[in-house]
Amino acid sequence: MSKVVVVGSCSTDLFFYTSKLPNPGQTIHGKQFSIDFGGKGANQCVAAQNLGADTVFIGCVGEDLFGEDILNNFKKCGVDTRYIVKKPNVDTGVAQINVTDDGENYIIIVAGANGTLQKGDVDKAESVLLNETGVVLFQFETPLETTEYLLNKISTINSKCCKIVNGAPAYSNLQKEILQLADIFCVNESEAEIYTNEIIKIDSIESANQALSLLLKQGCNTVIITLGPLGAVFASKDAREPQWVRLPKIENPIDTTGAGDAFIGALAYFIVHKPNLNLYEKIKRSCAIATVTVQHKGTQKSFPLRNDLPNKLFD
Ligand code: RIB
Repeated sequence: MSKVVVVGSCSTDLFFYTSKLPNPGQTIHGKQFSIDFGGKGANQCVAAQNLGADTVFIGCVGEDLFGEDILNNFKKCGVDTRYIVKKPNVDTGVAQINVTDDGENYIIIVAGANGTLQKGDVDKAESVLLNETGVVLFQFETPLETTEYLLNKISTINSKCCKIVNGAPAYSNLQKEILQLADIFCVNESEAEIYTNEIIKIDSIESANQALSLLLKQGCNTVIITLGPLGAVFASKDAREPQWVRLPKIENPIDTTGAGDAFIGALAYFIVHKPNLNLYEKIKRSCAIATVTVQHKGTQKSFPLRNDLPNKLFD
């Protein structure tokens, strides 16, 4: 049960670095443009693979150049691509990402082929999910029906597999079943506000802790809320007292895009490869890895390889 399987999105990220965002009807000059490999699922997969995980990606691309490039990138990174389906008559997913001078990102995605992931596509990976998977990761850039179907199936066929659901992008009316089927539900602060019906503005550790409590009441097993520079808070059904994992301050983040994905990929790596660490320590190390990514531009190209990181993270 040593594999990390990601069921999710893969996209081409089109980055626009800019001092400010335009007003309605306004055209402004940006500072720089670049293209990277992205999609929350692909990012989480590559983040885990870069640390040394044995990863498998289940998802869809279109029959176009972007799709071909994404497949080649996965292969170059060492990801198992046997369960990536090329779909006809649909474009590979894309994201338009504006990054402002403070490193903040503003993302619009067009799911394209990611939106066509069906039960029949994920069923092809049944034997891997049954016999070899230690952690499976989901996000919400692929159809929710497929996610719910596979979460149910894995609960039946592989009870030892840890199911992590990253509730991003956030849905305002998510069925509670998905929250309950996930072993770990992980969101950032703005997503947590949506899942708690926007009754709390999360602007402090106290308000984040209130959101944790509300999410546990909705049936989550373990909830992690990532808080950018403040680190993360988490709590579980059977350990309801919230815990705060603090981060050393990063003075000038360059680009925060994909930091949350790097966190989740790292968490999956630690769950499989460092099972004896407690959850606090796994989250702390994953936060440390996510922090590295905000000091570089891009999504996957900002993700560190294991050899670039201090050995103490892997003790
Ligand atoms: O989390 C960052 C990712 O969100 C980007 O790579 C983009 O593709 C969107 O999916």
